[in-house]
Amino acid sequence: MRIIAVNGSPRKDKVSKTAMMLESFISGCRQEGAAVELINLREKDIKMCTGCYACWTKSPGECAFRDDMKDVLTAVREADLEIWATPLYFFGPTAMFKNFLDRSIPMAEPFIIKKDDLCSHPLRGKSRHIVFMSVAGFYESDHFQPMSDWLHFMERRGLIKIIAEIYRPESEFMSAPQLKERVAEVLASAEQAGRELVRNGSIDKKTITNIQQEIIPDQQTYIDLANKYWSWAIERNRKHREKRN
Ligand SMILES: Cc1cc2nc3c(=O)[nH]c(=O)nc-3n(C[C@H](O)[C@H](O)[C@H](O)COP(=O)(O)O)c2cc1C
Repeated sequence: MRIIAVNGSPRKDKVSKTAMMLESFISGCRQEGAAVELINLREKDIKMCTGCYACWTKSPGECAFRDDMKDVLTAVREADLEIWATPLYFFGPTAMFKNFLDRSIPMAEPFIIKKDDLCSHPLRGKSRHIVFMSVAGFYESDHFQPMSDWLHFMERRGLIKIIAEIYRPESEFMSAPQLKERVAEVLASAEQAGRELVRNGSIDKKTITNIQQEIIPDQQTYIDLANKYWSWAIERNRKHREKRN
């Protein structure tokens, strides 16, 4: 199985919780023999889609820009499955990730068809099978709902086929030393999910529940710890500034 994993976090690997989750998931996929190519969008030169529609009229299937998206699209077209990984930013994907999708518009035809009574653009090639993964700072899992609705909206119009959705709230606490053991369980479950995906073509509901397990005991503790962290970070910066002056 050929898999392309697209990471839309602007943060580097050591701090990015998306990267943390993705690394475990990819490791599981590779253990079962999948060939996985990881693309960190932050390392690529991918210009914003300008809506010129050259990819639909002038050079069908090919964007007018000559940047890194050309190779990314080739890898997407050759893959059996895509992992879309993005942090939650304002209840949606990062701008960088969204631009990756916008720039994949050459994969669609301009012509409009009816699918289950809904208007859509047919894809030029095979359908895009997606495992969607996201992390979010907040405690409540329903922060992911608008993004999940958006994915299902695309699926109903035949643009993608969702194989699995993996959401990890309370993400910033994944680097807290006190929670090391719980986080190790989460990451082991993400690895397990990768193995299941390649072995069975799907991910067990129980494995997804384990990935999404609470790592902070309750909402009030979450609020207290988060606010304590921000006060500490502001104070630390204030002290650094004072030292410099
Ligand atoms: C601009 C911005 C918007 C964000 N919006 C949300 C949000 O809507 N809901 C949420 O739970 N977390 C939100 N967060 C927190 C991130 O999802 C969280 O820090 C996550 O760990 C970032 O992923 P990364 O570590 O892979 O970069 C936001 C962070 C930033 C910088």
